[in-house]
Amino acid sequence: MDSLLIKGGAPLHGEVTISGAKNAVLPIMAATLLTPEACTIRRVPNLSDVKFMGEILTSLGAEVKCGENALTIRAEKIRGVGDYDLVRKMRGSICILGPLLARLRKARVSMPGGCVIGSRPIDLHLKGLQALGTKISFANGYVVASAPKLIGADLFLGGRAGPTVLGTANVMMAAVLADGVTIIESAACEPEVVDLANFLNAMGAKIAGAGSPTVTVTGVKALHGAEHEVIPDRIEAATFAIAAAATDGEVNILGARPDHMHAVLDKLREARVRIERNGPALTVRRGGRLKPVDITTLPYAGFPTDVQAQMMALMALTPGISIITERIFESRFMHVSELARLGADIAIEGPSAIVKGGKPLSGAPVMASDLRASAALVIAGLTARGATMVKRIYHLDRGYENIDAKLRGLGARIERVEE
Ligand code: EPU
Repeated sequence: MDSLLIKGGAPLHGEVTISGAKNAVLPIMAATLLTPEACTIRRVPNLSDVKFMGEILTSLGAEVKCGENALTIRAEKIRGVGDYDLVRKMRGSICILGPLLARLRKARVSMPGGCVIGSRPIDLHLKGLQALGTKISFANGYVVASAPKLIGADLFLGGRAGPTVLGTANVMMAAVLADGVTIIESAACEPEVVDLANFLNAMGAKIAGAGSPTVTVTGVKALHGAEHEVIPDRIEAATFAIAAAATDGEVNILGARPDHMHAVLDKLREARVRIERNGPALTVRRGGRLKPVDITTLPYAGFPTDVQAQMMALMALTPGISIITERIFESRFMHVSELARLGADIAIEGPSAIVKGGKPLSGAPVMASDLRASAALVIAGLTARGATMVKRIYHLDRGYENIDAKLRGLGARIERVEE
C-alpha cells in the first residue's frame, strides 16, 4: 500500500490542468451499455475507479479499449449479471442497474454496501425504477430487477437529504428506452447529471431539463454509438484552489469550469481568497489574512459535500471559529480525528464541526479514510511544519489523477513511498 510523504511549508506556485470528472465519467461509462454500437469517451481521467468500472463492463461482455485519456467501449453482446465481488467493491457501480435493465429488461447487481461516509442506501434508485414498471427482489446479496416492459411515468426522487445523483442517473438511463414520457421530479441538478444527459442525447435519447429539478425523458426505440468529452472535475479544481490558498501560494488552474464552482468560489472569496476568472482558467491566491467562514453542504448548486473536508483543512489554518455542517452524508467527518493529529482543533457537535483555526499544524503520520478526507490531509500536510506521512492513499488514486505529480509540478515537496 502506497503512502505520500509530504514535507510541508512550500507555497504552491505555477499552473495545473484539471482532469475529467470522476463522477461524470463513471455513469457515462455505464451508459455505453445502452447500445450495441461503439462509443468513444474523451478526457477520461486515469483513475483506479475508472479502471475498475472498465473491468465491470468487461465482465458484462463489453469490449473496452483504453487510449490516451480516452476509452472506446462496445457493448455488443452483454449479460445482465454484474460480478458480485467487482460491483460490491465500488459504490458508483450501482449505475449499471438502469442501463442493464433498459437494454436487457432484466439485471442482477450486487447490493452496494455502506461505506465510511455513511449508510448509502439505494431505495430511491429502486423506487424510480419501480415507477417505470420494474419488479425488484433481493436474493443472495443481489438486487434482482426485471421489467418485461418499461413504461414512462411521473416520479419523485427526493429523499431525506434531497435528490440523489446516481439515482437520477439510473432512472434517466432506464427511462431513455422506456415507452412514453418519464418526468423525474426532484432530480439531482449536478453538472455530472447534465453531462450524462448530454451524452445520452448524443446517443439519440430525448432528455430535456437536465440540470433543473424536473427532467423529462421521452423514450426512444434504440440508441446508437456516440463520442463525448467529459466535463472537467469541479472537485479536483476546488481542491487545488484550496491548496493554493492554504499554502499561501499562487496557482493558475487551467481547463476548469468555474461556472460549475459558484458555491466554492463564493466561500473562498468570503474567506479572503482572491480568485480571478479568465474563461476556463482561475488564478487563486490569498487576498489578505484568511477569514473564518461557516459552511453547510447541500445538493448542487449549494456547497458540495465532496469539498467539505478540504475546506475544513483550510479553516483549521484560519484564525477564528468556523462551523462546518454536513447535510448530505451522516458520517463524513472521518478526517477530523486525523487533522487533530496534525494539531487542528476541531470538535464535532451532531452534523456540525466547530473549527477553532489558526494553530500552526505540525507533521505526523495520518491515515486516509476516504477520497476527500485524503485530499484534506494532503492539504493540511502541505502547510504543516515537518513531515506528514499520509497512509492508504489508494483512496486518493480512486479520484485524483496523478495528484502527487501535479502537486510536485507546483513546487510541493511530496513523494510516493511504497510500503
Ligand atoms: N440517498 C438515499 N437513498 C438513495 C440514494 C441516496 O437516501 O437511494 C441519500 C444518501 O444517503 C445521501 C444523499 O441521498 O444522504 C445523497 O446521495 P447521492 O445518491 O446523491 O450520492 P451518490 O449518487 O451515491 C454521488 C457521488 C459522491 C457524492 C454524492 C453527492 C458518484 C460516483 N458519487 O454519490 O461522490 O458525494 O453524489 O454529491 O458520483 C466522491 O466523489 O468522493 C463521492 C463520494
